[in-house]
Amino acid sequence: MKRLITAIDTPELDRAQALVRGVAPHCGLVKLGLEFFLRHGPAGFAAAAQGNPVFLDLKLHDIPNTVAGAVRSLLPLGAEMLTIHAGGGAQMIAAAAKAAAEAPKRPKILAVTVLTSLDAAALAETGVAGGPAQQVLRLARLALENGADGLVCSAHEISRLRDAFGAKPVLVVPGIRPAGAALGDQARVMTPEEAVAAGADYIVVGRPITGAADPAAAAAAIAASIA
Ligand code: C5P
Repeated sequence: MKRLITAIDTPELDRAQALVRGVAPHCGLVKLGLEFFLRHGPAGFAAAAQGNPVFLDLKLHDIPNTVAGAVRSLLPLGAEMLTIHAGGGAQMIAAAAKAAAEAPKRPKILAVTVLTSLDAAALAETGVAGGPAQQVLRLARLALENGADGLVCSAHEISRLRDAFGAKPVLVVPGIRPAGAALGDQARVMTPEEAVAAGADYIVVGRPITGAADPAAAAAAIAASIA
């Protein structure tokens, strides 16, 4: 199983295509997100994906009917994984899962719990007391009990989530840095090896690959480190 997902975070179609061509042989999936998709849309999705499996990370969050419609609109693209915000509530999560099931090949619905950019103080400002760890568990439970296939989580949450929910949920883990790589804006990181050993199904790596002089070689090295 190829556990590496490369985040193709660029608004430029040419660059996205070149990156995908280089890294896809070493990846289970490539990740396209808001920055790319809002500029290039479904046509750009297909042009960038070039037939490779895609994790489409749009973090949907709206009323259940609207999220279900959004998921339906995305189904023809054939992404393997879609993201929603667990904070949208039980009915929204269930609506997304139900809409996904209408596809011949159902995409996995992954829930985002607490954005890793929010610390305890920032979370308290949104009205959530008790800190991120507690809120992650609460929202993870809500997501998994309402039809989500898995979670996007930080490496430091993996063991607690596995303890609480077992082996079944798909855990997709960003905030990964090979030993010695620049942190960028990621504060709490793990190496690819550490994250996989901790129980990650997939690791998401962006800049250490996309910012390398040779992205294909960087992806190959990370893939080899977790093979
Ligand atoms: O460049 P870097 O490896 O930090 O990219 C990580 C990718 O994972 C980015 O696309 C970022 O949006 C995403 N991500 C994250 N932390 C989360 C959720 C998603 O870094 N909690």
